Amino acid sequence: MSGGGGSGARSGDGSGGGRRFGDGGPGGGSGARRGSGPGSGASDGGASDGGSDGASGARIHVVRFAPAKLNLTLAVTGKRDDGYHSLHSIMVPLSLGDALTVAATPAGATRDSLQVSGLVLPAKSDNLVLRAIIATRAAVAPAWPGAPAFPPALAARLAKRIPVAAGLGGGSSDAAAAIRAALAAWGAALDPEATAAVAASLGSDVPFFLAGTAALVTGRGESVEPLPEIGGEPPAVLLVTPQLPLSTAAVFKAYADGAREPEAGLARNTSERLAAEIRAGTTSAALLARAEELASANDLRQAAASLVPGLRTFVTALERLLDRPVCQSGSGPTMWSLYASLAEARKAVRFVRLAAVNGTLPLIGTGEPFVAATTIAGRPTSPLVQPADGSEGAIRPRSVHNWVEIDDQGPGGTSDGQMESKGDKSQ
Ligand code: C5P
Repeated sequence: MSGGGGSGARSGDGSGGGRRFGDGGPGGGSGARRGSGPGSGASDGGASDGGSDGASGARIHVVRFAPAKLNLTLAVTGKRDDGYHSLHSIMVPLSLGDALTVAATPAGATRDSLQVSGLVLPAKSDNLVLRAIIATRAAVAPAWPGAPAFPPALAARLAKRIPVAAGLGGGSSDAAAAIRAALAAWGAALDPEATAAVAASLGSDVPFFLAGTAALVTGRGESVEPLPEIGGEPPAVLLVTPQLPLSTAAVFKAYADGAREPEAGLARNTSERLAAEIRAGTTSAALLARAEELASANDLRQAAASLVPGLRTFVTALERLLDRPVCQSGSGPTMWSLYASLAEARKAVRFVRLAAVNGTLPLIGTGEPFVAATTIAGRPTSPLVQPADGSEGAIRPRSVHNWVEIDDQGPGGTSDGQMESKGDKSQ
């Protein structure tokens, strides 16, 4: 799918240039949302905005939470004409996530920039955050007051807590957060269709993160049906990610080349049944009771295992250690198990870390696995994070204590790299 184009941009008041960055955004008559601009205190993404005003010289900054995701199910239902695979997948956001801050660049800066802290990112400059800012700018530009001048350069900071290339959707979530953060920083708005087109142009999982809620995802990922929240105490999740980045493209290719599950259609049946149950209203306890079925409801398991020597042995050892079924998220290699409470999941974290150190759990990849306890995230309950216009529900972590556990985590190391966007000719 191609990028947003200009047709969906909500234009300003048509009075042309002269608008200062930070004066509240294109605001006039043609459907632009008032109050969503910098400094208004409104939030569209479940995090805080730092207010400011261009005249005062203060930095305008917006902060967005970018949750990780789990595929509770992932059925591959066919191959499409565009080369992608069609999916039937129930996806849920997690409380574990990255934090993205976007600010106006210092006066005179003409390029978007990105600084990363936390877990190490691959050293390449086409990070999805920068690509998302560029694609969003291109979509907003036609309606930008004073066009052909573009919305100004942004400085982004990403606190990376989601393991990369792990099946947890970290990069895609960062991209969705960057779309929202850029719009908020510029005080601009796009129609939902235009925003969805920008999202789909950046990756198959980005539309899910834009919707920001548990969803049934079909098509190549662009069709997102929000699902009701799972009732009761939010299910806790143990994540175990071998230190071994796995390319989604490579896993789909292995699948296309014949690395398939022994029982065709099993994942799809489970996925359809679970979607119907969640639609009708299900509970955490009912989801936990389905652990066995969920473990075989991912059609990319064999494909991932065919690329990672030792992954099958690793999963078998993990299942034995935890005494419960272990599931794969997305294209892997992250493995997960559900728990009734965060306390139990945390106990399992300590257990797995110990087993990795004493050799009970075989190590694959470059070292000890990333191990964390988190929860399936729900819709926000706090009015503070509700969008000012009441439009889409914003995702809010139900608890953030897992962040501390992640920060304590050794494997993964840290980075503090600076990136600049390439090919951004906006200024
Ligand atoms: O869309 P995204 O960039 O995340 O996809 C990475 C790769 O994974 C694609 O280039 C494609 O090879 C494969 N893929 C697929 N079917 C999907 C999603 C991804 O074949 N539904």
